[in-house]
Amino acid sequence: NTKVWKVDKYVDNLENNPQVVDAADLLRRNEVVALPTETVYGLGGNAESDEAVAKIYEAKGRPGDNPLIIHIAEREQLTRFVAEVPVMAETLMDAFWPGPLTIIFKMKEGVLSEKATAGLETVAVRMPDHPVALSLLKTCGLPIAAPSANSSGKPSPTTAEHVLEDLNGKIAGVVDGGATGVGVESTVVDCTAAIPVILRPGGVTKEQLEAVVGEVHVDAALTDETARPKAPGMKYRHYAPNAPLFMVSGSAAFLQGLIEEKRAEGLRVGVLTTEENVSKYEADLVLGCGRRAELETVAAALYDTLRRFNQENVDVIFSEMFPSTGVGSAIMNRLQKAAGNKLIIE
Ligand code: TXA
Ligand code: MG
Repeated sequence: NTKVWKVDKYVDNLENNPQVVDAADLLRRNEVVALPTETVYGLGGNAESDEAVAKIYEAKGRPGDNPLIIHIAEREQLTRFVAEVPVMAETLMDAFWPGPLTIIFKMKEGVLSEKATAGLETVAVRMPDHPVALSLLKTCGLPIAAPSANSSGKPSPTTAEHVLEDLNGKIAGVVDGGATGVGVESTVVDCTAAIPVILRPGGVTKEQLEAVVGEVHVDAALTDETARPKAPGMKYRHYAPNAPLFMVSGSAAFLQGLIEEKRAEGLRVGVLTTEENVSKYEADLVLGCGRRAELETVAAALYDTLRRFNQENVDVIFSEMFPSTGVGSAIMNRLQKAAGNKLIIE
């Protein structure tokens, strides 16, 4: 059975909190435990243990060729398993750690479980900006491998309830620290070459990175469907609700026309829009996912909104588009993957 530890992220001295100590103890015994971060909930396990990492892949049903992100609480932990820290990476860590930025480094062989890094010569590392995650990492003293704590392919979890929806009975426990803040995963940036390359858009925007390190490239696979992504995970269909999802580029009247066509076929239709536009549509389930005027609120609500379409059993979902600037590029990346790139243009 899966244990649930409720931990208030605002209390002091979390490292000695009995719930945190209990969860850290299970991590040291190579059990897997879900934990809150500022982006999404992670499914954590000892990154140096094949046994623990195997349990992560098993619980999620995740393909073994998709490497995990290693979470740390102190920068000194890097020296144990990272071969080289380029100056550019130092600059990025100074600016964005702890925070939603994952950095790819060249790896020291033989320390981490090869399963965690899927046999690659590089390793993805981040320091989460969440008091519960940081205290858990400090208390167990281990580098923790943690993918998002959802079943592979499902929307990532932003609450402990989402984690239990997917993984109840399959993992040792979940530390419930309330809803996460950012709502989309960390930005993954490769720092093994001279110019950093974004492999996955996320909580830290391209604009923010550029303000700190100058030129930043974006992996071609993010804009060209035929290119092979450098982050192995980006090739899978992801974040998907049960019903087919279509992105719709056009006016509200055009989208309403699509709704009516499907309803005439007897289908239950869902619409993903924002609070500003909820009243413009008539369908079976119209969900306002944050406010368009503040894209951070859309990111924060996105995965919960996708999961709500499942609970209401709609047959088809139409989604509005979002601008690809700032955190909008992460929102559009996740929606396009959830849609399997299905797009209807007016
Ligand atoms: O916000 C996040 O990053 C969350 C929280 C839990 O920290 N974690 C997360 O992990 O999103 P996951 O496993 O769902 O996504 C990890 C991504 C995948 O796309 C994977 O392919 C990529 O990082 N990745 C990991 N190691 C890599 C490496 N050495 N080279 C390139 N991509 C890598
Ligand atoms: Mg994931």
